[in-house]
Amino acid sequence: MGICEGRVVIVTGAGGGLGRAYALGLAAEGAKVVVNDLGVGTHGEAGESKGAAEKVVDEIRAAGGEAIADTADVADWEATRETVRKAIDAFGALHAVVNNAGFVRDRMFVSATPEEWDAVTRVHLRGHFCLSRHAVDHWRAEQKAGRPVAARIVNTTSGAGLQGSVGQSAYSAAKAGIATLTLVQATELARYGITANALAPNARTRMTMTAFADTMTSMQEAAFDPYAPENTAPLVAWLASEASAHVTGQVFEPFGGTIRIAQGWTDGPTSADVGRALRADEVGAVVEALVAGRAPAKPVYGAG
Ligand SMILES: NC(=O)c1ccc[n+]([C@@H]2O[C@H](COP(=O)([O-])OP(=O)(O)OC[C@H]3O[C@@H](n4cnc5c(N)ncnc54)[C@H](O)[C@@H]3O)[C@@H](O)[C@H]2O)c1
Repeated sequence: MGICEGRVVIVTGAGGGLGRAYALGLAAEGAKVVVNDLGVGTHGEAGESKGAAEKVVDEIRAAGGEAIADTADVADWEATRETVRKAIDAFGALHAVVNNAGFVRDRMFVSATPEEWDAVTRVHLRGHFCLSRHAVDHWRAEQKAGRPVAARIVNTTSGAGLQGSVGQSAYSAAKAGIATLTLVQATELARYGITANALAPNARTRMTMTAFADTMTSMQEAAFDPYAPENTAPLVAWLASEASAHVTGQVFEPFGGTIRIAQGWTDGPTSADVGRALRADEVGAVVEALVAGRAPAKPVYGAG
């Protein structure tokens, strides 16, 4: 028996890449999966992978699993309400939401446009808000009706969101927001029986093949390929399962056969309190001592 037997899980952006691997992995662990995908291109271009959700549903059914397709835009408030309703109508319940859909529009900040900024922050940030918000409505109603809730939100951040990435200002800002959103969701939603955790994956997909093809293909022929998207699926299945009830508000960085836990902003050195506002001519020396005494920051991806 799989660790997700009887669980109903919505996976967004599951028509390809990591989401497809999660959907297949969840189904193999016994989950009934709503395979969501709008079928867009790597930069959000309409129609580029039309029918992607349906194909993954076919794969799951061919392997003996249960799944339905959904083509809602994850940042569409009304369409995602329908996605939640569809899951409950088809399978009688909803237990987890895996927010994974997204795309990139890389550009140096100096030439980034407001349209690119809005498109990228919309799909990631608003896309993480809409579906989870509707799911939480359902779970809170369940709890109020006296039915036990063991619900899970699994979010997708990125190394770009945790340490920044050159040429990805909008994406980095959105993914950093998702990491912090996860902390707030975990804190606010614990009372309803809902956990929230996030992943920062590292896998070979069409998204990473555009920028990091050499790295992504470097181990493809090895006995164990650490960049295969399937490697991340077991962590997602566990986080979506009942077994992870005690783990919430965490950000995981899975890669190959290992999982790292990220530790975010934390207090660094603090200057002595002078008991009054610092004068402007005093600030420079104070800040220089703080910068010299702090732990080295992880470099921004692509810096230098
Ligand atoms: N691949 C990596 O190493 C990596 C690293 C860090 C973060 N991520 C994140 O992981 C997630 C999955 O990325 P991937 O690498 O599998 O990319 P991918 O392009 O293969 O898959 C993304 C999927 O999301 C779908 N999608 C895009 N916009 C959508 C929308 N509005 N509504 C519904 N579906 C939509 C696309 O059609 C696509 O199938 C993304 O959030 C990405 O930012 C990936």
